[in-house]
Amino acid sequence: MSFTYPDTEEKSLYTELWQILTTIVRPSSVVLEVGCGTAEVLHALCKKTGCTGIGSDPFITPRPGNPAFYALKAEETGQIPMDFNVIYGTKSLHHVGDIPAFFRTAIAKLLPGGHLIIADWVAGMDRGFNETYLHPAKVLRMAMDAGFEHLEVRVRAHTHQVLWARKR
Ligand SMILES: C[S@@+](CC[C@H](N)C(=O)[O-])C[C@H]1O[C@@H](n2cnc3c(N)ncnc32)[C@H](O)[C@@H]1O
Repeated sequence: MSFTYPDTEEKSLYTELWQILTTIVRPSSVVLEVGCGTAEVLHALCKKTGCTGIGSDPFITPRPGNPAFYALKAEETGQIPMDFNVIYGTKSLHHVGDIPAFFRTAIAKLLPGGHLIIADWVAGMDRGFNETYLHPAKVLRMAMDAGFEHLEVRVRAHTHQVLWARKR
C-alpha cells in the first residue's frame, strides 16, 4: 500500500481490510468508501486494481481528482447517483449516527452479489479518544436485520473487527 500506518493496531486493521478488498475488487468494480477522510486507502485501491472509486465523508474533503467525492454521511449514501459492487468503511462506523439506516441504504445501493466490508475498532478498545466502539455481535445483528447474507466477522486481538457481508 502507498500509505503509512500510525501504529501497529492500525497496521493490522488496514492489512486485513486490504487483503479482503484486493481479493474481491476487479478493474470493472465500482467501489464506495464511506467516511473516507483523505481517501488514502481508496486512492491506493484504485491505483492497484484499476477500479472506479467514489469516496464520501461529511466533514473531510480529500484532495481533488480521482476518486470522485460526495460530502455525505454514510446514512445518506442513497443520494449518490450510482450503484456499487463494493461499499466499505474503515474506522468510520463508530461515527455513524444511525447504523441500521446506513446498512439499509448500503444494501439498496449494492448490486446483486455486492460486498459490504466494515473495519473498525472493537468495544473496549482504548484509542485515547472519547469514542465508543461497537460490539461485533451488535454490528452483525444490524447487518443481518438489513438483509445481508454470507456474513463473516473477524475480530483480531481485541483491537479491531472486520465485517464482510454480501448481498444475495
Ligand atoms: C478516523 S477517520 C477515518 C478516515 C478514513 N476512513 C481512514 O481510514 O483514514 C473517521 C471518518 O469518519 C467520518 N465521519 C464522521 N461522521 C460520519 C458519518 N455519519 N458517516 C460517515 N463518515 C463519518 C469523519 O469525517 C472521518 O473522516
